[in-house]
Formats: sequence, C-alpha cells, structure tokens
Amino acid sequence: QSEDQKRLIDIHNQVARLYHHILVNTKLGEHALSYLHSRGLDDETIDEFQLGFAPQENLLQPFLKQREVDQQLMHASGLFIERDDGTLSDRFFNRVMYPIRNQAGQTIAFSGRVLDKQASQAKYLNSPETTIFSKRDVLFNLDKAKAAVRTTKDVILFEGFMDVISAFQAGVKNGIASMGTSFTDQQIHQIERITDHLEICYDGDEPGQKAINRAVDTLAHARLKLGVIQLPSGVDPDEYRKQNGDEQFQKMIQTARESPVTFKLRFLKLHRNFNRDEDRVDYLNDALAVIATVDTPVGRDVYVNQLVDQFQVDKQLLLDQINGIILNNR
Ligand code: UTP
Ligand code: MN
Ligand code: MN
Ligand code: MN
Ligand code: MN
Repeated sequence: QSEDQKRLIDIHNQVARLYHHILVNTKLGEHALSYLHSRGLDDETIDEFQLGFAPQENLLQPFLKQREVDQQLMHASGLFIERDDGTLSDRFFNRVMYPIRNQAGQTIAFSGRVLDKQASQAKYLNSPETTIFSKRDVLFNLDKAKAAVRTTKDVILFEGFMDVISAFQAGVKNGIASMGTSFTDQQIHQIERITDHLEICYDGDEPGQKAINRAVDTLAHARLKLGVIQLPSGVDPDEYRKQNGDEQFQKMIQTARESPVTFKLRFLKLHRNFNRDEDRVDYLNDALAVIATVDTPVGRDVYVNQLVDQFQVDKQLLLDQINGIILNNR
C-alpha cells in the first residue's frame, strides 16, 4: 500500500467511526437507529458491523479539515461529489451507512441505504472506484467469514449485505456478498484461498433465481464444490430470518441445500407449460444437456430416473441422447 492509500484507509476508518457515533449516540441518528432496530438488528450487530448514519451534506469537510486532510485527498476518497462551482459536498447524506472492508478488515468504501423508499433515489448508493476500492474485487464480510470458515468449512454467498448481516446475527457467520455486481474471477480466487466449498443463497424471487443460474455457470470451472440453498419463493434470507426466527434460519441454511444440477433442472421449468408438447420436448433437451455435465454414470442415473418418472419417457432414449452429448463435448 502506498502512502496515499494508507491515508485513504485512515480517513475511511475515521469516517466509519463518525457515522457509527452519530447513529448510536446522537439525536441525529435516532430515526436511523430505530429503522435498523425495526429491521430486526440488535445493538451488538450494529456495533459488530459498525453501521452508521450520514445525516447531512456538509458533515465531512470540516471533520476532515480538522484532521489536516487536504483537498486533493478528499477528492480521491470518493466520499464527496463536486458541485458545479468546484466545491465539495458529501456524497452520502440521509442514508444508513454500511462500511465495506477489505480482507484485512480495513474500511475501504461505504454503501449507503435510503431510510424510506423514495422512487427518485437508488436504494443503495456505493462509493465510486478509488485507489483502495474496486467493486469487482471486494466481497462483503470476507474478513469475518475467513475466521468463521475454520469451523463451518463452507462459505455462503448471499445476494445482499443485509442478508449477510442478518445471517451473522442468527449465528451464521460465514456469509459473504458481492457488491451488487455479477460474480468475478477475482472474487472466485479469493474464495478458493479460504475454502473449497461454496453455497449460493440468493433471493427467492425471479431475479435471484436468474442470478443463481449465472453464478452456477460462472463457477462451473472453479475448483469449488458448489451447492445452492433454495429459499421459499418471494423472500430473501433476511426476510426469512425475520419471519421465522434465528433457529429456523440456521436450520434452513443447513437443510435447504441442493445440488447445482437439481437447481438447474428446476430453473429450466420456469415459464414452460408442460401441457404443450413443444415445451416438454424443449425442457427434456435442455435437461439432458445439464445432466450430461454430471461426471459419473451413477450420478447421471439419479437425475435421469427423475425425468423418467416425471415425463414417462423411455429411459434408454434419454441415456442414448446423454451419451451423444458427452461424446460431442469431448
Ligand atoms: P436487493 O434489492 O435484494 O437488496 O439487492 P437487499 O439486500 O434485499 O436490501 P434491503 O433488504 O432492501 O435493504 C441486492 C444487492 O444489490 C445491490 C446491493 O449490493 C444489494 O445488497 N443493490 C441493490 C445496489 O447496489 N443498489 C440498489 O439500488 C439495489
Ligand atoms: Mn459502538
Ligand atoms: Mn434481490
Ligand atoms: Mn434482497
Ligand atoms: Mn432484503
């Protein structure tokens, strides 16, 4: 790390402390604190993740000036936006602040959430790319997950960092999340360095299912053993915990696991009407291509039998087609 990078990290750590102080100790933060409590987070969790509140637009400049941070460094921090007249104002205001840490546990960026959903604003606003923050390289909570994985052995990839925080409070401390981007090779390598087993637990809505499908494809060539944790439709992990409690949440995380192939076979059913011959044929063709990726004959047999049961098709035909696909792919 260069001198400037060290200074930027120092600024982020100080600002994280300031936002956290405002949230938990001041009148300005009361509204945001009760928002977080109403979402089911307790004070211990709020402390653990150093959650904060950014009240107004003119907070950081005087704060950093007092600490002898110059204009150029303020610019480089990503914490400000430049007005038309060249002056700086805080990028984040009237938002609940989530510090984003690197693997070493240093704060390198923020994400800020609006308190009340206003249509005109993005729900989450992230820091821009800086010399210490590259969105595609960061996995939220990797620093804490790294410690937890020694006992859990696996890491759980969630869609949002609220899910990671909520899971953590329920005792599931091995959760990570990307920053709202699709999954990158760089992130895969970071995970491979700490575990050989990844479970994907995205939201139970259609965008979540599509994102699982993409992630499974991206991870197909990783060395990781892969699984999918399937939520009931319509809820995300945080909502599930709120509705069902910590214990049930832990149980769901352990038991709602399925193989990527089982996930794909279900995913391929979306928007298909099996009363139509055409849809049945399309599904079977797609499903066989998925089953052909299973690397043992016994493994393939399990899934082929499911298709035979569901569609009353001749098993030998299915096996012939799978073997054709396998020969073709060699
Ligand atoms: P979700 O919309 O599922 O958010 O987006 P969430 O995690 O459930 O958040 P809550 O519960 O409403 O607070 C998943 C992820 O996509 C990114 C964020 O990283 C978020 O955690 N995202 C979403 C953004 O970057 N910007 C947005 O406006 C929305
Ligand atoms: Mn505290
Ligand atoms: Mn979502
Ligand atoms: Mn969600
Ligand atoms: Mn949510």
